[in-house]
Amino acid sequence: MSMRLPFMKNKQKEEPEQLPPENVPAHVAIIMDGNGRWAKKRGLPRVAGHREGVTVVKEVVRAASKMNVQILTLYTFSTENWKRPKSEIDFIMKLPKEFLHVYLPELMENNVKLETIGDIDALPEHTKEVILYAKDKTKNNNGLILNFALNYGSRYEIMQAVRQMMTDVDSAKLSIEKLDEHTFSSYLYTKGLTDPDLLIRTSGEQRISNFLLWQLAYTEFWFTDVLWPDFNKDILRQAIEDYQQRKRRYGGI
Ligand code: IPE
Ligand code: IPE
Ligand code: MG
Repeated sequence: MSMRLPFMKNKQKEEPEQLPPENVPAHVAIIMDGNGRWAKKRGLPRVAGHREGVTVVKEVVRAASKMNVQILTLYTFSTENWKRPKSEIDFIMKLPKEFLHVYLPELMENNVKLETIGDIDALPEHTKEVILYAKDKTKNNNGLILNFALNYGSRYEIMQAVRQMMTDVDSAKLSIEKLDEHTFSSYLYTKGLTDPDLLIRTSGEQRISNFLLWQLAYTEFWFTDVLWPDFNKDILRQAIEDYQQRKRRYGGI
């Protein structure tokens, strides 16, 4: 927020954040993309884009909370992002601590519950520690679920689910006859969460990048060219208002 000009701050304060109450997407998922390009455009190192991206996360969490979104899933780090230079990965892995150090009290105040999807055991110890701490601290909050996809890959998630289901069939905990879509879903990281109603991707790319392949079956997609560090609550609001105009048919008429 510190990068904003004072007049923008005032404007933001005055704006009501109420949406038409009908048809607010219960679950919004966002592929926050374009941090590197944002930095490059300014002649800054890529990591400057990641840092600026964190300030946008804060704004979007606040706004989603006020708009009565119930679940906000943010794609933070994919299983493929390990291909990046070590220095960039190291920087990204420090961001949860930076974010939560300042922001955890506000999450508590706003009754936000932090959850994660993805293999957090494979994260550096210092990253994992702060995330587990914040998850535990917020576990009894019953407002917005802020769900970070961290070291998340959908194919890996599905593979793990299959592996676990086969193990459970072997040990007679699961019978093949009982295996249906609902049971399958319960083996995924997203167990207990409804499927996303709206998926937003920034930065002009129009692909899923291994995000929630199973869960996005009937999700509405919304793309913008805006790079993640330039995203804000007004754009979120626009995406949601567009969503509210759509007619979801689920194969019916
Ligand atoms: C998204 O921004 C953040 C992560 C994937 C961690 P990028 O870092 O992918 O930025 P671009 O796409 O290279 O601009
Ligand atoms: C998707 O962005 C992953 C996250 C936003 C965390 P990428 O930048 O990794 O996706 P690709 O490589 O352009 O598909
Ligand atoms: Mg990218």
